[in-house]
Amino acid sequence: MGIELNTRTGADLAMALERVVEMRIRLFSQYPYLYVGVPEYEKEYFEAFQAKSGAMVVEALVDGAFAGLATAIPLAQDKYILKPARQLLADACLDPAALFYLGELLVEPSFQGRGVGSALLEAVRAEGKRLGFAHCCLMAVDRPLDHPSRPRHFGMPVPLWAKAGFRALKGWAFFEYPTRLPGGNVATIPNPMVFWRD
Ligand SMILES: CC(C)(COP(=O)(O)OP(=O)(O)OC[C@H]1O[C@@H](n2cnc3c(N)ncnc32)[C@H](O)[C@@H]1OP(=O)(O)O)[C@@H](O)C(=O)NCCC(=O)NCCS
Repeated sequence: MGIELNTRTGADLAMALERVVEMRIRLFSQYPYLYVGVPEYEKEYFEAFQAKSGAMVVEALVDGAFAGLATAIPLAQDKYILKPARQLLADACLDPAALFYLGELLVEPSFQGRGVGSALLEAVRAEGKRLGFAHCCLMAVDRPLDHPSRPRHFGMPVPLWAKAGFRALKGWAFFEYPTRLPGGNVATIPNPMVFWRD
């Protein structure tokens, strides 16, 4: 299986953003994120994202077919992420300016479990190094395995981060977003996020 990776930056980002928004809303609606995406908010966020220097989208193709993507940005540029994470970073003596942030890692369900996510993660890390960042980092939601919305046999992608050599900072940052609650109601609640860095 050949995985081809294409990195988009600058004006070239615009072509990828509709896909990022669509995949975010579709894949993050599932456990563990349970995110109920609002297309207007997503569009606004990603329009701002593409204007930031160092922003990128890496796309993965498998035998020519689109299989997944990752987004990344210098952490110091993303106030939405930086604000809730600031205390965790200070406690760990990490300078936000030294961190390249992997925002989304999204693999089409029919391509999952075949190494695409790992290849995208490594591509983002390599780009971060090339740009001079000391570390790559990401935030991932933390849900208990006995959460009622967890499909049977579904794990958290923790092995992916750990296998790639990422370490979790102590504690959580909290992201407020519209969340599907057990039973189906939607509420904007704080969701606990673990901060991972290499
Ligand atoms: C998480 C995700 C990106 C993984 O992509 P993938 O292409 O399936 O990952 P890989 O095939 O490269 O797997 C890498 C390793 O992580 C592990 N892994 C991946 N997803 C996992 C999951 N949901 N639960 C447990 N382990 C997982 C695999 O076991 C694999 O380890 P192995 O090679 O020792 O078996 C993909 O499942 C996805 O898009 N999920 C929905 C969106 C999401 O949660 N993104 C992550 C937060 S941004």
